[in-house]
Amino acid sequence: MSTFHHRNKHNGRYNMQKLIEVYPALEPYVTSLEAHDLSIDFSDSKAVKVLNQALLYLHYGIENWDFPDGHLCPPIPGRVDYIHHLADLVGEGEKRILDIGCGATCIYPTLGVAAYGWKFTGSDIEQQSIENARRIVQANPVLKDQVRLTVQKDRREFFEGVIGAKDFYDATMCNPPFYRSMKEADEVHKRKLRNLKGKKMEVDRNFGGTSAELVYEGGEFNFINSMIYKSRAFAQKVGWFTSLVSKGEHLKGLFKQLDKMDVQEYKVVEMGTGNKKTRILAWRYEKA
Ligand SMILES: C[S@@+](CC[C@H](N)C(=O)[O-])C[C@H]1O[C@@H](n2cnc3c(N)ncnc32)[C@H](O)[C@@H]1O
Repeated sequence: MSTFHHRNKHNGRYNMQKLIEVYPALEPYVTSLEAHDLSIDFSDSKAVKVLNQALLYLHYGIENWDFPDGHLCPPIPGRVDYIHHLADLVGEGEKRILDIGCGATCIYPTLGVAAYGWKFTGSDIEQQSIENARRIVQANPVLKDQVRLTVQKDRREFFEGVIGAKDFYDATMCNPPFYRSMKEADEVHKRKLRNLKGKKMEVDRNFGGTSAELVYEGGEFNFINSMIYKSRAFAQKVGWFTSLVSKGEHLKGLFKQLDKMDVQEYKVVEMGTGNKKTRILAWRYEKA
C-alpha cells in the first residue's frame, strides 16, 4: 500500500483543534462535537475550501488563498505529495519549475514556494484562472517575487509560447484534465459524493470543477501522450518533464510514446493520496 511521502506533513489525521485555534473561520464547518473526533462535511464545497485555507495558513504560512465557486478544489495533502516527490527528482538548491495548468487556485506554485522556495511559472489556457491565480500571488508576499503566470493561448500546446528561448526549467509538472466529457466527469463526481454521503446526490457544480479543468478530447491519455510528443522539441530546456497519471492503465501506451521519442530515461513514482492511488510519470532527454 502506498502512503504519502515521508516529508508530507499530512500523514496523520488533521489536527482540527489546532486548525480552529489558528483559523477560527473553520469552526462553523466542524461537524462533530466530540473533541477527539472532529471533522468537516467533505461533500460541502465551502467547508473543504475553508479547511484548505486553514491548512495553508497553519502549515505553509499562506494567508490569502481564495478562488471563485465552480473551480476544482484541490486536496492539500495529495497536491503537496507531488511537490515532495518532485523535490526528490530535482534535488536541493534553487530550482525553476513550470506548472502546466496551474488553475485558479495556483496550488502547486503556492505549495512549491512555501515548502522549497522554488521559482515557478504557472500557465493555463483559462484567462480567468490566471487572473485569480494572479490575485493569490499578489495577496501573499512570500509568492510575489517567486511566481510568474502566463496564459497559454493555444490549448494544443504545453511548452510552446511559455518556455522562452533563454529559459531553462529544472522540471515541468502537470495535473492534467482527466475526463473525456463533462458527462463522464459528472458521473464520477456523483459516485464520489454518494460514497461520502451514502445516498444519491445531485452534482454540486461548486465543487466539481470547470470543463477546461476536467475535460480534454480523448481524456487524460491523449493529453499526456501529446505532451510527451511535444516535449521532444524542448529536450534541452527542461531537466525532468513530469505529469500525474491518474489511471494506471494509461501507462503502457505512454511508455510506447516515450520509447518513440527516444528519451534517455523515464520512471513512475507511485503515490498514495488518501483512498485514491495515483502516480507521477517522469521523463528526461540526454543533454547535448
Ligand atoms: C485538473 S486541472 C488542475 C488544476 C490545478 N493544477 C490543480 O491541481 O488543482 C487542469 C488544468 O489544466 C488547464 N489546461 C488544460 N489544457 C492546458 C494547456 N494546454 N496548457 C496549460 N493549461 C492547460 C486547465 O484549464 C486546468 O486549469
